[in-house]
Amino acid sequence: MMPAHEPMRPAAVAGHYSSPDLESRVLAALVAAEKNPDQLRPEDLTAIDEFHVRGAAATQELAAALEPAPGLLVLDVGCGLGGASRYLSRLLDCHVIGVDQSSDYCHVARMLSERLGMSDRVAYLQADALELPFGDAAFDLVWIQHLSMNIEDKPKLYREIRRVLKPGGRLAFYEILAGPGGEVHFPVPWARDPSASFLASQEDLRRLLTEEGFQPLFWQDVTKDGLEWFRRRQQKSREGGASPFGLHLLLGEGFPAMAGNQLRNLEEGRITLVEAVFQVPPDN
Ligand SMILES: C[S@@+](CC[C@H](N)C(=O)[O-])C[C@H]1O[C@@H](n2cnc3c(N)ncnc32)[C@H](O)[C@@H]1O
Repeated sequence: MMPAHEPMRPAAVAGHYSSPDLESRVLAALVAAEKNPDQLRPEDLTAIDEFHVRGAAATQELAAALEPAPGLLVLDVGCGLGGASRYLSRLLDCHVIGVDQSSDYCHVARMLSERLGMSDRVAYLQADALELPFGDAAFDLVWIQHLSMNIEDKPKLYREIRRVLKPGGRLAFYEILAGPGGEVHFPVPWARDPSASFLASQEDLRRLLTEEGFQPLFWQDVTKDGLEWFRRRQQKSREGGASPFGLHLLLGEGFPAMAGNQLRNLEEGRITLVEAVFQVPPDN
């Protein structure tokens, strides 16, 4: 199942998410935040292992839109530190495989899952979303949160996802998309500059998915919810100071500027947020 060679990844994206000493920094930050790494609870991790706007609430909302059945085989593409894959595994009582181009993130995803006693139901592989190391029709559900903005070749991404989905299988995603307000202000949490950022508009993404043979089941613009969440979060961090346990562990000292730009981009309509579910036709 593992690729025989290091997958080709755009250097700007790989560099953005590279974090070689992440494991030791996460463990130290857990202790600094008065959490016990030897008795971890899933909720201890949501500030870092749900690396998307609205965190765990957005994951729960998208999972609810799925009307899921137990026992599915799920693939989480661009899984990050694995928070959503662990949530889905618990919710659906199923196995989830996460793939991410970052070996550092996969390493920490494995470490956290071991500490939560979940290694028998979640697994993580370093792999490129454009060359998934799985056979055809292997999965019931592909899950994606905040990935496509790092992927330039979107037709290849959705072709590859469709290839690994069974007939009748579903693609659930929560994505940052281009808005009508113009170019984004950089840096943002997914890219320090435009070389790692490739935003599609809502219209382009819908058209592309239809062209690739997916049928829409659910589409919800959640930009307003994201904007309100970001405003509350920024207000809270102004009042309470920075927590030792947060996304700065993944993104470094530049994180406050990235978060500030994320809010500005939302306010100025430069980005939008969409939750959606699509299906491969059952008779495919
Ligand atoms: C903003 S993070 C979201 C992580 C996770 N989905 C979550 O919501 O917590 C984007 C993730 O996509 C991964 N990624 C970007 N390009 C990728 C690619 N071509 N193949 C696989 N993973 C990729 C990054 O390494 C990063 O972990």
